Amino acid sequence: MRKIILISKSTKSLSQKEIILICKLKNSFWRWTISKQISWFKNTAHKNDINILLLINKELAGYTLLRRRKAYQNRKLIKYLYLDSFLVKKKYRGKKLGKKLILFNNKVINRSKKHSFLTCEKKTIPFYREFNWKTLARNKFKIMDHKHRWFSKSSSIRGMTYNLKKKNKDRFFYYFN
Ligand SMILES: CC(C)(COP(=O)(O)OP(=O)(O)OC[C@H]1O[C@@H](n2cnc3c(N)ncnc32)[C@H](O)[C@@H]1OP(=O)(O)O)[C@@H](O)C(=O)NCCC(=O)NCCS
Repeated sequence: MRKIILISKSTKSLSQKEIILICKLKNSFWRWTISKQISWFKNTAHKNDINILLLINKELAGYTLLRRRKAYQNRKLIKYLYLDSFLVKKKYRGKKLGKKLILFNNKVINRSKKHSFLTCEKKTIPFYREFNWKTLARNKFKIMDHKHRWFSKSSSIRGMTYNLKKKNKDRFFYYFN
């Protein structure tokens, strides 16, 4: 029988073994090298960032990193959660585990009372939309400190938000680091 568990852990409470498993899983999709994944993780994940792990019989089958970061909503400095590294292991895709994982992320975001922001490609928008994420028009946000290496061109980056209360004229300036 499959036992599926979802857990949320701060980076500082992850074991070295868990960090390696996360990096291996990420490397199966965002292909790099394990050692680069590990150094990226150590440099990028802050100690209080939230790691969401989906385990099937103790095997790491899905993962997300919710990074506690800052943004400006117009001129006001706010805290938000940057949703990053969302994935399900290839052999487990198409079995509604992505759904379980994003709904669990949504719960954690709700509890934080902050909004969350993610970037994705156009083709992934319907997935997030199904789970109450909304697209943010391209002229309404700017990423201040990051260039995407995984998108073919910067014009293909889409921004989506969850739990965001905004006015039509609001603009958002996101920091990822
Ligand atoms: C995106 C991803 C996490 C989805 O996980 P999954 O376990 O296969 O998804 P589910 O089985 O829960 O699918 C739920 C629904 O979303 C749809 N869906 C799944 N992947 C989708 C995608 N990439 N784009 C659009 N819709 C998608 C499914 O068809 C399903 O719809 P249905 O309920 O009408 O059948 C998975 O495909 C993945 O890990 N991809 C590689 C990493 C990635 O692209 N991450 C997103 C970075 S922004």
